[in-house]
Amino acid sequence: VTTDNSLTARRDRALGAGMPLFYREPLHLVRGEGAYLFDTDARRYVDLYNNVPCVGHGNARVAEAMSRQQSTLNVHSRYLHEGIVEFAERLAGMHGDQIESVVFACSGTEAIEVALQMARTATGNRGIIGTNATYHGNSNDVIGLTRAPHQPGTYPEIRSIPFPERLRPIACGLSDPELADAYLAELRSSIDSLKTSEAGFAAVIFCSILANEGLPDVPEGFMARTAEIVHNAGGLMIADEVQAGYGRTGQFWGYDVTGFQPDIVVTGKPMGNGLPLSATAASRDLVERFRATSGYFNTFASSPLQAAVGMAVLDEIEDRGLLASVTEIGANLKADLAKRLGNASWLGDVRGHGLFVGVEIVSDKDSLAPDKRRAIDIINHLKDLGFLTSNAGAHNNVVKIRPPLVFSSQDATDFLVAFDQTVADIGS
Ligand SMILES: Cc1ncc(COP(=O)(O)O)c(C=O)c1O
Repeated sequence: VTTDNSLTARRDRALGAGMPLFYREPLHLVRGEGAYLFDTDARRYVDLYNNVPCVGHGNARVAEAMSRQQSTLNVHSRYLHEGIVEFAERLAGMHGDQIESVVFACSGTEAIEVALQMARTATGNRGIIGTNATYHGNSNDVIGLTRAPHQPGTYPEIRSIPFPERLRPIACGLSDPELADAYLAELRSSIDSLKTSEAGFAAVIFCSILANEGLPDVPEGFMARTAEIVHNAGGLMIADEVQAGYGRTGQFWGYDVTGFQPDIVVTGKPMGNGLPLSATAASRDLVERFRATSGYFNTFASSPLQAAVGMAVLDEIEDRGLLASVTEIGANLKADLAKRLGNASWLGDVRGHGLFVGVEIVSDKDSLAPDKRRAIDIINHLKDLGFLTSNAGAHNNVVKIRPPLVFSSQDATDFLVAFDQTVADIGS
């Protein structure tokens, strides 16, 4: 009989051990407000990690919209409702003309599944290409894309290409255009391989800013040329904006930063500020062909509640001018971190867009060998100082800085003090 009644032990019993927890000493949080989180001792932490509460933890306008709609009407999608139509119109209108209609779902994974099915229905082919260090979700249909390639033959409809990057390029001594060509040659060969297989070629899916890959600096023009090659090969370009979208980069969409026009756009995480809400947007033709063949229904999706909350989130982003502040605060934060690259032998690179910055931790600047262990030390140290980050990237050695969009310039200044303290404490 176990006598350990700590919350950790109870969690293991109630939820099954093996459910990950952040930090060596896990945090027990009880409250959030704006960009701050508070633990059981009322200690304040600056949240530099969570993108779901994009307009802030405990956002009053979102909470009010949620409560008002829930106490007025919330039903499934098989009734007429103006709110949901308005929300879909508003979302579609935020893209270029090629995007006209929306399919709502509840999670990023579901919306990615819809996107894949849409592309497969439209092209009559099944083959999908992603990068070799990506994550798009956890369902059977989507998991094959995660950190592919797997054992040969496990996912015959999936191909992966090395994600494009300048830091550790696939070939050395190339100019930027040559490097783009080298990565695009990988893309072409994957398309050819699918075309000569039973699967055929349906689509490429990329996170617009390659977030899970570690926000690499991408050779100039790579994304636009990818879209062109995909279209010439009869395929569709899917932008995963689950992390990249909703103002994260300072532009509303990540594809505006990396410079391409997708055929299908998937959004999720920040859309509902915590209410499960995701979407797949595309041309009316693509959406209607998908609807005609799938009869798609998703119990909690396309509901008045999703619409009311989704509208409140968009109103907050617009009314508070968050794109401008993300651009300014993010650019300054990235520049200030980059100035510190010389302060420690293990600071390898600083990259990112808007309020999404990655600090690459390496064993030394010559080899640039990824140092995941030190990245974890840094994250734990920052947490002890009251600043919450985590590690990510292809090698899990990138300190990931991705705060709620309401993160202020004072928060950034405070973080830099903690960062300098961490460098001093860990040693250069
Ligand atoms: C880029 C990207 N796409 C899709 C997903 C899947 O979203 P969800 O966890 O809501 O299913 C994630 C989740 O981390 C993600 O980072």
